[in-house]
Amino acid sequence: MNSLPILHLLLFLLGFQALQAQGRSLSAYQPKQYFKMISEIMDVLNTSPSPSEETLDPNEINTLLNTTLLRPNLDAFLNATKNFYNNESLIWKNLKEFLPLLPNPTPRGEPIYIENNWDDFQKKLKKYLEALDNFLTFKNKH
Ligand SMILES: *[C@@H]1O[C@H](CO)[C@@H](O)[C@H](O)[C@H]1NC(C)=O
Ligand SMILES: *[C@@H]1O[C@H](CO)[C@@H](O)[C@H](O)[C@H]1NC(C)=O
Ligand SMILES: *[C@@H]1O[C@H](CO)[C@@H](O)[C@H](O)[C@H]1NC(C)=O
Repeated sequence: MNSLPILHLLLFLLGFQALQAQGRSLSAYQPKQYFKMISEIMDVLNTSPSPSEETLDPNEINTLLNTTLLRPNLDAFLNATKNFYNNESLIWKNLKEFLPLLPNPTPRGEPIYIENNWDDFQKKLKKYLEALDNFLTFKNKH
């Protein structure tokens, strides 16, 4: 049997493997993984009773759901997370994973204001997770 085709197959497989390894490090975008991170954050938020989201001001809801403000709001939440958790916490780590995904607009606009209390943080972050979820769903379809 001629060994040339086998050699070609081998080279092809090696090349394919190299491409795969490269792909993993270059673009780690895995939609499922991001949806999972959102639900993990939601699980943590739901471990304590939630104040009614109806107490959110309509302007605040607009700000939280505004696509242009996704990134400035993420920065605000990362900063606010420090009030309640350290940087090894699941919420901090998961939120940080979204940084490279979200476009950084100029001008950045006015992000959401988060009070230094857990109830405010919790209800606002829950609303913001909806915006992140919508963003991922939209990104998946396009
Ligand atoms: C970060 O959080 C601290 C404490 O809540 C606040 O004083 C500060 O203004 C925040 N910084 C930004 C850039 O949001
Ligand atoms: C968390 O903070 C500590 C102390 O500031 C720092 O050494 C460490 O690198 C940080 N970890 C992450 C994941 O940012
Ligand atoms: C979203 O925020 C940007 C920047 O603040 C603002 O210009 C825009 O009008 C907002 N969009 C909506 C739909 O509220």
